Amino acid sequence: MSSPLRLGIAGLGTVGIGVVKIVQKHVDLLARRSGRDLAITAISARDRMKNRDADLSSYRWEADPMAVATADDVDVYVELIGGDDGIARDSIEAALRAGKDVVTANKALLAMHGQALAELAESLGRVIRFEAAVAGGIPVIKTMTESLAGNDVTRVMGVMNGTCNYILTRMESAGLPYEAVFEEARQLGYLEADPTLDVGGIDAGHKLAILSAIAFGTRVDFGAVEIEGIERVSIDDIRRAADLGYRIKLLGVAQMTARGLEQRMSPCLVPADSPLGQLSGGTNMVVVEGDSVGQIVLRGAGAGEGPTASAVMSDIVEIAREVRLPVFGQPAAQLTLAQPARTAVPAAYYMRLELQDKPGALAKVATVLGDAGISIDRMRQYGHHSDSSVPVLVVTHKTTPDAIDYAIEALPRTGVLVSAPVELRIEEV
Ligand code: HSE
Repeated sequence: MSSPLRLGIAGLGTVGIGVVKIVQKHVDLLARRSGRDLAITAISARDRMKNRDADLSSYRWEADPMAVATADDVDVYVELIGGDDGIARDSIEAALRAGKDVVTANKALLAMHGQALAELAESLGRVIRFEAAVAGGIPVIKTMTESLAGNDVTRVMGVMNGTCNYILTRMESAGLPYEAVFEEARQLGYLEADPTLDVGGIDAGHKLAILSAIAFGTRVDFGAVEIEGIERVSIDDIRRAADLGYRIKLLGVAQMTARGLEQRMSPCLVPADSPLGQLSGGTNMVVVEGDSVGQIVLRGAGAGEGPTASAVMSDIVEIAREVRLPVFGQPAAQLTLAQPARTAVPAAYYMRLELQDKPGALAKVATVLGDAGISIDRMRQYGHHSDSSVPVLVVTHKTTPDAIDYAIEALPRTGVLVSAPVELRIEEV
């Protein structure tokens, strides 16, 4: 057996400690699968004194991640610090320049600087692997770069933020408003330090941008992802959508169209009996469609110590096996700069309107929708919501986002709405 592959780990939070535990627990198994021993030589984290529930005594402690990244006795720098810039980026660049390969779980960094890092790594003959960056324990990066290498990917979509999926499913099951469940999620420790990364759709948007690059052979372009979070999803809409046979999910969709690359992360309705509709709690799901394979669905834990560390380990073993792939599945220099396109693919839409209960109100709504070129598929009026208003749900036939925008702007001018109209896209999944 050849010499051990020596690991330097920076960041000993949930994921870092998970990696240490797997290396310790599966010494022999990992050696057999890798064809060589794996040995942690150096570690680094912010607080040395923190109780970490793992024996770290045999590893050299470095106060500065840079020392781990550039150490002579480190072959693979495992960056688990996080953050889209600063020490995470600096230490990865230093590691690459010092001749190390890199494993990271850092989706924000790859979404913002993935192209530059890939070019640097490939110019130096190094690899960067990042299975844990997207959908935690789900092996979607390897599936797309390796298992689906023979496919022209036509669409990739997914629920890739477990916290948002927990909030949305808990709102439905407990009948609680968004604010109450957000607070629960905070107390359970599910939210990122900056919760807008989760509920604002940014974390999931980072993941979608990374998948798009692999799927379409394009430069990762997070700035082109249309992002809307879950803050405006109300318990009313969750209940009404359920009445119509749908669930609301924070869904990312990327597809290449004749006008360019559409990437959007937004709350959407999906059929309640579809795999995405059935997804509950903090679980993630990624759906990939290829011209040869058809549709495949990957489901699993999107976060947590074991699942995320499992993904990190898969990258370490890949490097130990001397499998050396371009960062985004094809040489970084050949990735194209996609033309970003605003969503224009037609879809059915859900609309919830609170109408004054008086003669002619519905006719005025129908006129606006007709003027917008929107055809109604289904309409449901509920009993009295209050003395003066009634909720009306509309499901449209397939229409364009532009037509919906026109209607949403024009509807309040009818004078028959008592509150702002709500619209949500119904995604065909
Ligand atoms: N905040 C993320 C989530 C963690 O809720 O899915 C994994 O990226």
